[in-house]
Amino acid sequence: MNSIYLDNAATTPIHPQVVEAMTKVMLTEFGNPSSVHAHGRVVRALIEDARRSVAKSLNCAPGEIFFTSGGTEADNMAIRKSVEDFGVKNIITSAIEHHAVLHTVEELAHAGKITMHLVKLLPNGHVDLADLESLLKNNNNALVSLMHANNEIGNLLDIEHVGNLCKQYNALFHCDTVQTIGHYPFDLQKLNISFCACAAHKFNGPKGVGFVYVNANNKIHPFITGGAQERNMRGGTENVYGIVGLAKALQIATENLEKEHAHIQGLKNYMMQMLQQAIPGISFNGDAAGKSLYTVLNVCFPETNVAEMLLYKLDIAGVSASGGSACSSGSNKGSHVLSALGVNPKRPSVRFSFGYQNTKEEIDYTVNVLKKIFNEAAKA
Ligand SMILES: Cc1ncc(COP(=O)(O)O)c(C=O)c1O
Repeated sequence: MNSIYLDNAATTPIHPQVVEAMTKVMLTEFGNPSSVHAHGRVVRALIEDARRSVAKSLNCAPGEIFFTSGGTEADNMAIRKSVEDFGVKNIITSAIEHHAVLHTVEELAHAGKITMHLVKLLPNGHVDLADLESLLKNNNNALVSLMHANNEIGNLLDIEHVGNLCKQYNALFHCDTVQTIGHYPFDLQKLNISFCACAAHKFNGPKGVGFVYVNANNKIHPFITGGAQERNMRGGTENVYGIVGLAKALQIATENLEKEHAHIQGLKNYMMQMLQQAIPGISFNGDAAGKSLYTVLNVCFPETNVAEMLLYKLDIAGVSASGGSACSSGSNKGSHVLSALGVNPKRPSVRFSFGYQNTKEEIDYTVNVLKKIFNEAAKA
């Protein structure tokens, strides 16, 4: 039985060297990092080493990194603190953000704390930057919350341009970088980003740990009240092993970035080409051949009588892929991203997402499975 994992945007397998680094600490250190005695101090030093290492990878100051339980908490912290601490009254976002952002902004709007503005999208799913500028022109005290790469269709935002627009109009910029940290180089000193979010499990780190970057110009008050952890911003004893694992995973990802980018982009291009040859009428959602995250390919298959069964048939053949965002896969509601882009709901869409461990042979196998499914469906 084949076991092919093409759902790396949902989560990635943990890197063996990350497991090694985490286990070493688990076996030897158990102190509470808030304790002032020797057992505590050793663990405190591990956390601060991890913070320095993360800051070095992203070219920011260690004091700008706050460890969290993952991407959702980081997004929540950035958005809610912007409203509570900086008097944000208008949040400009898009209909295709992750639910960690959309549901948070919607809740704040329902509570009457902010007005929510949805920026227009171009037919290929990119943000209409002219509309963004006009929204910024007409709304003061604004936070722009737009993701760097869309987790379902892979579209990439020009964060340099958006950062400059936000600076020009005196707005805060929160960028959900959950799908791109560990996959692209970042220079946070150069980018005009106020907040960004990270989840370690998207780049071969452990689950349940991430961080929020808060630019030093934006001093926030505690998000989770309690102890003085994370310099008072997030109470609660730290996820020490997770933090050690996150830093190790980011270090490995940063060292191998160029090599892995080339390998994974090659797989994506190859799959696009092979699918177009194998299945007539296929297309790709979003700007797959343009400004697009190299790890994600969202395929729009032709109408078929096996649409509902496509993911199941792939699963039976040993291929794990996803019908949209994994975060909502249990809800059976379909994808809010594909709906916002007006994708024909009769055409099944599947998101394939790649990691460094995937091979050309796995792509060949997957394309053959799909070809067979569509050939059989045509005969039925
Ligand atoms: C773009 C984006 N933002 C936020 C999240 C939430 O991250 P986590 O599940 O680690 O909280 C995800 C996870 O799928 C994501 O893809």
